[in-house]
Amino acid sequence: MVPPVVSGPPAAPEQSARTSDSSRDAAAAAAAGDGKRAYVQRMFSEIAPRYDLLNHVLSLNIDRAWRRKALRALAWDRAPKGFYLDLCAGTLDVGAMLIKQSGFEGRVIGADFAVPMLQHGAGKAPTDRLTPVGADALALPIADRVLDGAIVAFGIRNVADLDAGLREVRRVLKPGARFVILEFSTPPSPLVRAGYHAYFHHVLPAVGRLVSGHGSAYTYLPMSVSHFPTEQSLADRMLTAGFRDVSWQRVSFGIAAIHVGIAP
Ligand SMILES: C[S@@+](CC[C@H](N)C(=O)[O-])C[C@H]1O[C@@H](n2cnc3c(N)ncnc32)[C@H](O)[C@@H]1O
Repeated sequence: MVPPVVSGPPAAPEQSARTSDSSRDAAAAAAAGDGKRAYVQRMFSEIAPRYDLLNHVLSLNIDRAWRRKALRALAWDRAPKGFYLDLCAGTLDVGAMLIKQSGFEGRVIGADFAVPMLQHGAGKAPTDRLTPVGADALALPIADRVLDGAIVAFGIRNVADLDAGLREVRRVLKPGARFVILEFSTPPSPLVRAGYHAYFHHVLPAVGRLVSGHGSAYTYLPMSVSHFPTEQSLADRMLTAGFRDVSWQRVSFGIAAIHVGIAP
């Protein structure tokens, strides 16, 4: 049975006289200031045409391996004909990868509030299997307890109210369904952290600005990672949001982490 997804008119990016934002806006947004939602929605809408290219180039293609690992953590093979959510789906890479898994016969809802991101992902999978929905992670147009699993890759850090976002995912999951979070993290080893810091705070913003033409998007990225909770504190917040059996693992020396929680 198809869960009642309402894919009404997508939320329009908030209007701004500026075409890009200043680094000050990025810093405020990274720190989860009042303007975070508007900044994030506008910024991703603006960088959408270059997002995929930059993603794979700047991560040296490691992001694909991380997404595959996160999908394994979703354990979709427990319900291969089920309904899944790719939250903060962006250009639909995770949802498309899930659809292509051998043995997967289910459907995926790709939800994102930056509609240009979804539009740039169109064509990665048939829409009757992977349905893009313009929706805010804090108010998903999905009924309670209908989904067999949910995954978010590099998205939850951008949600203005993390705790409300976690509760909203829990609301739409069936009891026992898994929620997987793949997110950047800060490597624990001082040596790795030094190299990572140089790359993330200097190389990445420069290349990102050059290729995307956006003034602050790739400055916001490392700043938002710095403000994001540590692995254990994210696990604690998942527990507070109602998930049980929360676990996490570092990947690539702690540059990223994968969290898993079970809906009650
Ligand atoms: C870094 S991208 C990740 C996209 C994709 N998951 C991937 O793996 O490439 C983060 C995405 O989160 C979306 N996002 C951030 N906050 C959101 C919210 N409150 N509701 C819906 N989408 C949101 C942004 O629009 C953006 O497309």
